[in-house]
Amino acid sequence: MNPLRSLILAAAGSDAIRRVVTASPGTRGVVERFIAGETVADAVTTVGRLVDDGLYVSLDHLGENTTGARQAERAVQAYLELLDRLHTEGLSTRTEVSLKLSAVGLRLDEKLALDNAWRICAAAEQNATTVTLDMEEHDTVEATLRVLAELRHTWPWVGAVLQSYLKRTQGDAAALAAPDSRVRLCKGAYAATSDVAHRSGHHVDLSYVRAANTLLAGDGYPMFATHDPRLITLLHERVRWYGRKQGSYEYQMLYGVRPDEQRRLAAEGETVRVYVPFGANSYGYLMRRLAERPANLAFFLRALVSR
Ligand code: FDA
Repeated sequence: MNPLRSLILAAAGSDAIRRVVTASPGTRGVVERFIAGETVADAVTTVGRLVDDGLYVSLDHLGENTTGARQAERAVQAYLELLDRLHTEGLSTRTEVSLKLSAVGLRLDEKLALDNAWRICAAAEQNATTVTLDMEEHDTVEATLRVLAELRHTWPWVGAVLQSYLKRTQGDAAALAAPDSRVRLCKGAYAATSDVAHRSGHHVDLSYVRAANTLLAGDGYPMFATHDPRLITLLHERVRWYGRKQGSYEYQMLYGVRPDEQRRLAAEGETVRVYVPFGANSYGYLMRRLAERPANLAFFLRALVSR
């Protein structure tokens, strides 16, 4: 992993840095670029705009590493309200939700997280949409896959995420390339040590392509989450090689990142889903976006000093 990236991800854990970043007026510009707003109404307005442009959406209510059951319950309530609202607004056929299990209690008690995710999946079904479980730090992968397996007994459409920087991912891709499965493949946004993760970008990319081949050869629905132009070109070739028709896989990108490319792919008939975060608790998400790209950090620092 690039040293600057490791440094930002490590700094993200410091309370002192959190205080400086969240109190800074310069943060607002960065927040506005990557986050749809604080309220459900803000999220719905953004979803409406993206859907009008021919895009699909996965909405994420910001929050992670919840430290109490009450806080986890507030996260569940936010998702229930969101799902209800998407349905009322007629947006649920093009919009699903992404859920971090740590937001609904995974670090407190796996059973609590399962029960809470269960309620969210039941509401998603009632409101005619689906849920994808985001993948977080590597020490949560086993528990996340266990919760996923439980949920998929009832709702086979619950989506998983695999991170190509993890050495275990090829095995997980093989296990998940089954009929009905929905699997988002990304590079991975967290820090991890070399016993579990590939350290060089080249190996992360190779692992991405290997897992993509496995998912495309299987019977599930692969969701390729990347902005990397080289990977997108390669995926374009791979989907054809495997005889996949448009609509039997999708591309996914983050809100605020390469919006022109999102629209270009959609105009070519590809299914493109934009991951849209909203809510007040933006710090962790923002720090991961800064770590991904030094130019974002420069943008952020310029905003800090120019105020
Ligand atoms: P890479 O980082 O190599 O970037 C390629 C190019 O894309 C850059 O050169 C730049 O042009 C552009 N770009 C990438 N990131 C940018 C940014 N932040 N700002 C501006 N430009 C940027 N991770 C995870 O661990 N668990 C998860 O559940 C998810 N979920 C998820 C959903 C979706 C829809 C996406 C797109 C990504 C995720 N991720 C994630 C994040 C993912 O793991 C990864 O960190 C980022 O997508 C960046 O990796 P790329 O594949 O884009 O390549």
